[in-house]
Amino acid sequence: MTSRTRMMKTTLLSALFIVYVQAICDKELVRPLEWTGGSFEWPNLSTKALYKSSGRFIGKNNIATRAQIYKDDVIVAFPRYKPGIPVTLGKVCLKQRNCEAVISPFPDWSSQEEGNSAAFQSVVDLFIDNNEILWILDVGVVNTLNSPVRKSPPRVIAFNLRANKQARILDLSGLVAQASRLQYLAVEYAPDGRPFVYISDAATRSLLVFDVAGNRGYRVVLPKAVVGCGRRDVLYIALVQKGCGNNFIIFTYLSSPRIFSIRTDYLRAGSASGKIQDIGVKPNRAVILGTDLGSAIFFRYEGQSEIYRWDTNTPFLPANFVLVYKSDNCFLATQAVADLRRERMRVLESNFPDYVQDTVGCGATQKLSLMTGCL
Ligand SMILES: *[C@@H]1O[C@H](CO)[C@@H](O)[C@H](O)[C@H]1NC(C)=O
Repeated sequence: MTSRTRMMKTTLLSALFIVYVQAICDKELVRPLEWTGGSFEWPNLSTKALYKSSGRFIGKNNIATRAQIYKDDVIVAFPRYKPGIPVTLGKVCLKQRNCEAVISPFPDWSSQEEGNSAAFQSVVDLFIDNNEILWILDVGVVNTLNSPVRKSPPRVIAFNLRANKQARILDLSGLVAQASRLQYLAVEYAPDGRPFVYISDAATRSLLVFDVAGNRGYRVVLPKAVVGCGRRDVLYIALVQKGCGNNFIIFTYLSSPRIFSIRTDYLRAGSASGKIQDIGVKPNRAVILGTDLGSAIFFRYEGQSEIYRWDTNTPFLPANFVLVYKSDNCFLATQAVADLRRERMRVLESNFPDYVQDTVGCGATQKLSLMTGCL
C-alpha cells in the first residue's frame, strides 16, 4: 500500500466516522423527549425529600404546557396551576440519553422560589425573538386552578440568552384589572427596531401592548363581536411574520365561532377600532398551537389529536388546512414550536385534560415530539 492510498483510506474512514457520529446525534434529536410529572434535576436527594415533606413538591401537579427551543435546549413553562410545583421555568436538553428526560430549573433554583417576588411565580408562556431574547410571561398568581393567590405583580421578564442574564422586567400592574387572565404573549420589533410585546387578556377582552424601549404599555380593548359564549374562555394569539410588509396578530377566543386578525402597526398605534378583520368561521372550537415563525399557523380542534397547518396567505377555509401531525392516544398538544436550528417543528403534548381533572395517577405524561415523525 502506498502512503497515498493509506492516507486516502484514513481520510475516508474519518469521513465515515463523522457521518456515523452525526447519525447518532441526529437520532438523539429525532427521538421524542418524554417525562412524567416533575422530573427535575435536584441539587441533591435531601433537598428533594425536604421539598416533598413540606408540600413544595407534589410530582403529579407538575405539567409543562409551553416551550421554546434555543439551540439544543428546550425551555419549558410549568404554570403553577396547583400547589407543589418547585420549578415554573425549566430547561431540558434535546440530546437526552435517558428514557426519562430530566429538567433543570432555568436559569437556576433561586429564580423558582414561590412567594419570593424577586423569583418567577407562575410562568404561563414564553417567546424567543430573533435577537435571542427570551420573553417570559409571569402572571404572578399561583394555585390558579384551585385557590388563586397573588404572589407578585403580573410581568414580563426579558432574559438575554446569549449573555445568559436577565435584561428587563416589564411591570404590567397598570394594564390589568382584578379579573385579568393573561394567557399568551408574542414579541416583534417595529421597523425602527423597537421591541413590542403583545399579551392576550382573556378576561378583559383585550390585547396588552408594551413598548419596551419607551417603557410604557396600553390596553387595546377588542370589540364585543370577538367573544364567544364560554365561561373562563381562552384568548389565543399568534404573531404572523411576513418577512416583508406588515406583521399581524391572528386571534380568537376558544369558544368564538370566528377568527380575526389585526395588523401590528395598528396595535402599536394603540387603537383597534375599525382595524380588526374577521377572517373566517371556525369549523369547530379551535386551539391555536403556534406558528412556524413565518406565515403558517398550527392548530387543532378542541379535544382532538390531529394538528393542522394553515398558511395565513391563503383564506381561512378547511380546504387550506393541511393535516401535519396526530398525537398518540391520550395525548393532546399544547404547543407547536419551531426548532430553528434543525428547521423542523416540534410538538409539546401531554394528557392535559386528565391533569385538570386530577386523574393523572403518578403524574401527567409530557412529551416533545418532532412534528414530521422519524427520519
Ligand atoms: C443540598 O443542596 C442544598 C441546596 O444547594 C444545600 O443547601 C445543602 O447543603 C445540600 N445538602 C447536602 C447534604 O449536600
